[in-house]
Amino acid sequence: MSIFRNDLLAGQVAIVTGGGTGLGRGISLAFARHGASVALASRSREHLDPAVREIESLGAKAIAVPTDVRVADEVEAMVTKTRETFGRIDILVNNAAGNFLCPAENLSPNGWNAVVGIVLNGTFLCSRAAGKVMIDQGKGKIINLIATTAWTGAPLTVHSGAAKAGVMNLTQTLAVEWAKYGIRVNALAPGLVDTEGSRENLWPDPAFAESLVQGVPIGRFGRVEEIADAALFLASDAADYITGATLVVDGGRWLRQMRI
Ligand code: COA
Repeated sequence: MSIFRNDLLAGQVAIVTGGGTGLGRGISLAFARHGASVALASRSREHLDPAVREIESLGAKAIAVPTDVRVADEVEAMVTKTRETFGRIDILVNNAAGNFLCPAENLSPNGWNAVVGIVLNGTFLCSRAAGKVMIDQGKGKIINLIATTAWTGAPLTVHSGAAKAGVMNLTQTLAVEWAKYGIRVNALAPGLVDTEGSRENLWPDPAFAESLVQGVPIGRFGRVEEIADAALFLASDAADYITGATLVVDGGRWLRQMRI
């Protein structure tokens, strides 16, 4: 049961990159349940199509737009397709990400490029393409998924940490540049959320997962719905005076050094 009004995003159109799985799927479903039409963009159609069917079963509208967010032409085509289908773009969620554990000295240049390309370049390309539509409309909301590693550093994920730091800076810059167009740009920093992707890529070993949970003051993994609710808030009119901010939803994990 959501605490938000069912029509919170009625008539609005959202793009969610990486929208077929994990946090992106959760955010897409939450937006759809609250009245939005959603374009789901990620590389693989087999991830997107089931999520589209799920959204349609709620009585909401969704399209799958297979897109590699690293490729500018594909991003432009995805934004054009969304606008042609739904007529406008109100919300962009830059959620698509890639990550894996690897000591920096072993990380290949391609490994670096893959993650930085998806996270940092992808966020820029999608923001630029959707931002132009929002500038024409005189209104829009962009939510960038980052991580607290953007300011703490990220041992074993130097690629992801550096990319997320870049996205945080981009968030702040665009918030200032685009405020005059009625566009709000914020970041959302989830902590440890136990999705299939995070389990496979980040804590495949249950003992390691348990040790991570020990470091969370609230004492558990986050739930996808808790991140989706934070995205709903940032997308809603209740956040109309919030821009350039990072909302941390991590059970207090990044402050764990201060635990008593
Ligand atoms: N450890 C070390 N290097 C890795 C790696 C790992 N676990 N996974 C990928 N790489 C390297 C590859 O070896 C390759 O480098 P190389 O050519 O020097 O060998 C480079 O990264 C690109 O890999 P590739 O699989 O071709 O890239 P891709 O663009 O298809 O995939 C990734 C992108 C790398 C981010 C991939 O891990 C991915 O798609 N993951 C799923 C999504 C995800 O991670 N979500 C986040 C959940 S928290």
